[in-house]
Amino acid sequence: MAELKSYAVWDRSTRWFHWINFLCVVALTAVGLAILYGDAIDLTNAGKIALKTLHVWIGYVFALNLLWRLAWGFIGNVHARWRAVLPVGAGYFSSLAGYVRATLAGAPPHYIGRSPASRLAATVLILVLIVQAVTGLVLAGTDVFMPPFGSWIAGWIAAPGVDPATLVPYAPEMYDKAAFEAMRAFRKPFVNVHLWNFYALMGLVVAHVTAVIAVELKGGGIIGAMFTGRKVLPGRPVDE
Ligand code: HEM
Repeated sequence: MAELKSYAVWDRSTRWFHWINFLCVVALTAVGLAILYGDAIDLTNAGKIALKTLHVWIGYVFALNLLWRLAWGFIGNVHARWRAVLPVGAGYFSSLAGYVRATLAGAPPHYIGRSPASRLAATVLILVLIVQAVTGLVLAGTDVFMPPFGSWIAGWIAAPGVDPATLVPYAPEMYDKAAFEAMRAFRKPFVNVHLWNFYALMGLVVAHVTAVIAVELKGGGIIGAMFTGRKVLPGRPVDE
């Protein structure tokens, strides 16, 4: 039996990002599904407004946490940096091929930081999260007039003589009909991307959890590391 050794890997910021992101995605998914099936569950307009407002407030936490992680990629420890996350650099593709071959043979090599496969997975996940955050922030302005674009949208659709600052959601009598229709057409692609990207994210979450469990069962020590910051590994890691 190989001797177990413990290595420092995930710094405090990276761990906090991971678990705050996890909680936000769970909460945003739950509230998002209630918005999506609002008609099926007979939501009133007041109920829709409350759910959208709640979704946006959680969304701000999610977006700020994500922004912090993007910045941390420039200032965090060596394993948090973009150089260690993005699937780039000399020899990346041959190391990925080697990792996949060894994994298919039932013996994935251990890494202190990310394996080549997990770099690819992390990059795709972060890109999908960015798309969800950006489309969500645009949508936050369109129905409930929340920042960052809410006051611009309110100014666009307010009926003549109505002060945009007094506009309330779901009050068509306060809106200019043509401007409102134009705004709905503008927002349509954002709703579509937010929804289809959500489906993609759900697929990635399933793949992520499955891969984490598979690596853990092969002795990769990755679940404990996201709590303690340290990986406990048998034998010598590839990137020691
Ligand atoms: C992982 C993150 C997120 C997930 C999983 C998620 C999920 C969803 C889902 C499933 C819907 C229903 C889609 C529909 O009605 O067609 C939705 C709607 C919405 N989301 Fe998100 N969302 C996320 C992030 C955000 C963020 C960061 C914001 C803004 C701060 C946001 C703002 C909105 C708004 C305003 C709607 C209502 C769209 C409408 O009026 O139909 N979302 N979200």
